[in-house]
Amino acid sequence: MTKTSRFSAPKGVPDYVPPGSSEFVAVREELIRAATLAGYGHIELPIFEETALFARGVGESTDVVSKEMWTFADRNGQSFTLRPEGTAGVMRAVIQHGLDKSAQLPVKVVYAGPFFRYENPQAGRYRQLQQVGVEAIGVDDPALDAEVIAIADAGYRTLGLKDFRLEITSLGDETCRPQYRELLQEFLYGLPLDEETKRRASINPLRVLDDKRPEVKALTAAAPLMIDHLSESAKTHFEQVLGYLDALGVPYVVNPRMVRGLDYYTKTTFEFVHDGLGAQSGIGGGGRYDGLMAELGGQPLSGIGFGLGVDRTVLALRAEGRPAGDPASCEVFGVPLGDAAKQALFVLAARLRASGIRVDLAYGGRGIKGAMKAADRSGAKFALVLGDRDLAENTIGLKDLGAGDQRQVSLDEVAGILAEALAR
Ligand code: HAM
Repeated sequence: MTKTSRFSAPKGVPDYVPPGSSEFVAVREELIRAATLAGYGHIELPIFEETALFARGVGESTDVVSKEMWTFADRNGQSFTLRPEGTAGVMRAVIQHGLDKSAQLPVKVVYAGPFFRYENPQAGRYRQLQQVGVEAIGVDDPALDAEVIAIADAGYRTLGLKDFRLEITSLGDETCRPQYRELLQEFLYGLPLDEETKRRASINPLRVLDDKRPEVKALTAAAPLMIDHLSESAKTHFEQVLGYLDALGVPYVVNPRMVRGLDYYTKTTFEFVHDGLGAQSGIGGGGRYDGLMAELGGQPLSGIGFGLGVDRTVLALRAEGRPAGDPASCEVFGVPLGDAAKQALFVLAARLRASGIRVDLAYGGRGIKGAMKAADRSGAKFALVLGDRDLAENTIGLKDLGAGDQRQVSLDEVAGILAEALAR
């Protein structure tokens, strides 16, 4: 006899199964809705792209590209990578389809789906993660930065999330970033850093400020910060973004030490942080990426967007004791007693579903006790109990599963009675 083996999902890759999956869907749908309310159109892109797109778009010196990509050769030996994030792919598609030339600017898109990072799995950190993202491309207006941020804020709040904060800073632009980079490098080269860290300082000095080792943190505590070295234009841009956020009543804290994990950011950069999640506290993040389109071979247009972590938002809502969504899979549960009754109830269920009522039935010829237990467990508000004798009398038992009382109603009227009762 061959030994049967059991399979499990790959390490760090979550399954979304009922009843918890309803929370996941509710969060994803609400975050998408917040974006569509502001005119963002759906974009669906491949989950794998040419490896070079991410290497060039996200940045070779980032952990995402250098350590975390799921890269594979296809049968022709061409290198592809499971998308670690959404922005580079959106830019590729916008350039490829000429959306920046044919459509009105800004091009506003929203996407949702899985992304892949080969990280060490832990609570809230997965190898397949789910994001809802938006990108607004082609207009550099501080009001657009504030709109993008406000969409995320509104999405979280509509879901009921409360204990989160928005951290924001400016990473400057080409008028001040190069000078600041030199200043920071000068500072870092004067520190007793190990060779590897010095090498990082020469490639991307900002990344050294993100070093988690306490000794490096202590050494860089007095490092110059971009926010103190912004050019007049970058400073005005940032102040205007904050002004719009103030006008909207979106609260924020300026965090000048924020370092994002992706290299394309310029000017406005932000993160949404939730303290109930332990180490993986970032529930969403984004910013402006004014050089990305040109870097990927398109025209030099600006862009701003965010990626919100659906998994972590679900966890944050749970941590606050406010799970999203309605896990009840049906509103009405049918209990047939007898063969003719079963067929009649089967047809009635289809009719009720067609009118928008969620209906399930007891299958498999269970006795009344088992079927009533199934009705109770289903989470439905009402049970419909139909025996062959009721059928002959053209009536049906309508049981309020919350209150426990049951009454006979006419089979011809039951759909209307249910619709009314459920609307209450
Ligand atoms: P990101 O900050 O790398 O940005 O990811 C956005 C969000 O995805 C994070 O805040 C977090 O909630 C979630 N996330 C990231 N990695 C994991 C993981 N391993 N497990 C669970 N959740 C995770 C981006 O991806 C940018 N593309 C966002 C953006 C769009 N910037 C401009 N436009």
